[in-house]
Amino acid sequence: MIITIDGPAGSGKSTVARELAKALGIAFLDTGATYRAVTLAALRRNLDMTDEHALADLAAAVDLTLTPTDDGTRVTLDGDDVSRDIRTARVSEQSYYVARSGIIRAVLVTLQRRLGDALGSFVTEGRDQGSVVFPHATVKFYLDASPEIRARRRLADLAAAGEPADYDAVLAAITQRDTRDRTRPDGPLVKPDHAVVVDTSNQTIQQVTVTMLEHVRSLTR
Ligand code: DC
Repeated sequence: MIITIDGPAGSGKSTVARELAKALGIAFLDTGATYRAVTLAALRRNLDMTDEHALADLAAAVDLTLTPTDDGTRVTLDGDDVSRDIRTARVSEQSYYVARSGIIRAVLVTLQRRLGDALGSFVTEGRDQGSVVFPHATVKFYLDASPEIRARRRLADLAAAGEPADYDAVLAAITQRDTRDRTRPDGPLVKPDHAVVVDTSNQTIQQVTVTMLEHVRSLTR
């Protein structure tokens, strides 16, 4: 069983994907972590973030592992645990350069399919999972929420990670990431054909998970 969840930053995808995977007893694949890890590797090497070929060579050369844990995913980069370091605001912001490149996406899409093959049944989340990476998924979801609500959620995540930020700045960053995610030529954020759309704006994680579980059960019965 392959379940894809796509949607904009802060729509609740990763939390819901984890909960859904847990409820179904299958694995969770966090594809944003692959973009984040390559971004971190590039920043650590002081690469020119506009040098697409250097970034693509790096993406192909790094040894990246994603291991499911009780509370998420353990990510290692060349043996180093970077699970926390890939979540900073700087990595979020700079990941744009990695995510916009068609040649880097091709490398990471291959990696994501390999990770998926190894997992067998899984819930995956990102921007292009139902549209590009796993077009034959069993069930596809598209999660959304208003930019203001997503900004509040991101603010809370950043505060919890010890990075308090300003609401207006976070909202502006979310809006900018939305535009960038939706307008890139390769693997843009889109609602995949036949995807079930879930608006998470006024729902708790539990409510969203229950709604999605019901869909999965009705579609796979
Ligand atoms: O979902 P996230 O915030 O962890 O994503 C990090 C970056 O990777 C962000 O720039 C969007 C991009 N991304 C992508 O382009 N395609 C995916 N499947 C997942 C993430």
